[in-house]
Amino acid sequence: MKPLVLALDDPSGFASVVAAEAGGEIGQVETRRFPDGESYVRLDAAPAGRDVAIVAALDRPDPKLPALLFLAATARDLGARRGALAAPYLPYMRQDIAFRPGESVSARTLTGLLSRAFDGVATIDPHLHRIARLSDVFAGPAVAAEAAPAIAAWIGTNVEAPLVVGPDSESRQWASRIAALAGCPFAVLEKRRSGDREVAVSGEGLAGLSGRTPVLVDDIISTAGTMIAAAARIVEAGGRAPVCVGVHGLFAGDAYARLAAVASAVVTTNAVAHPSNVIDVRPALARGVAELLAAPPG
Ligand code: R5P
Repeated sequence: MKPLVLALDDPSGFASVVAAEAGGEIGQVETRRFPDGESYVRLDAAPAGRDVAIVAALDRPDPKLPALLFLAATARDLGARRGALAAPYLPYMRQDIAFRPGESVSARTLTGLLSRAFDGVATIDPHLHRIARLSDVFAGPAVAAEAAPAIAAWIGTNVEAPLVVGPDSESRQWASRIAALAGCPFAVLEKRRSGDREVAVSGEGLAGLSGRTPVLVDDIISTAGTMIAAAARIVEAGGRAPVCVGVHGLFAGDAYARLAAVASAVVTTNAVAHPSNVIDVRPALARGVAELLAAPPG
């Protein structure tokens, strides 16, 4: 039976690409709010005996999570063979430790909740730092699809003599991979964060800036504090205003405008829908979902 692909919240249009790659068909979902704000979900499709993939944009997740859990449970209740979550952005992954005593480690709690609701998960470049692998926090199969090939291709076509720069040690994994694929050098800076919006970026590894176009890359742009501080460090070291590339452009408040003011360009993938999206990662996620569904159910 063909997999059923359900789009819960899909502003970038992942569902049709997932359905095409996985040989599935799109099913309809009805959602609305009850007058008191609680979530109503109705599945208008027949999941019995089928694999079900739920596509859900989970940026700004708090209002979206109840409907996601309700839909996953409904598919199961109606006899779905297995349920896969296709989330272009996996939220809360940065809170992967109690930085201060008593803090909620929301990365583990949320992935635990999703593990119980879904048999597998596919996402794009989850923030893996102190949690090293997605499979460390998901009970079932978990695919972390990469945006790096699409980003490297965009850089190759659009940027003259790039130098890829990661703003902090966590970004080394993405910066080194993108640079290798784009066939260009990379540098990694150092970041010290003292608050949600307070970051200082330092680092001496910018000797290769001369004659190069700096391309800052990071997995997440939230307040843009990291990228703005890294851009300032690049300019201080004698470089040009950088091209700024984010996998997940969350852009809290006026972050986009503040970053655009110090960058030569700001571009993102469509993992999070935003006017700065120019890099298409739908095929990468679709391949991840197809991989999940091609494996025999556990
Ligand atoms: C954190 O380690 C991430 O990789 C990003 O560097 C961070 O989330 C960016 O946040 P902001 O834009 O608020 O500085």
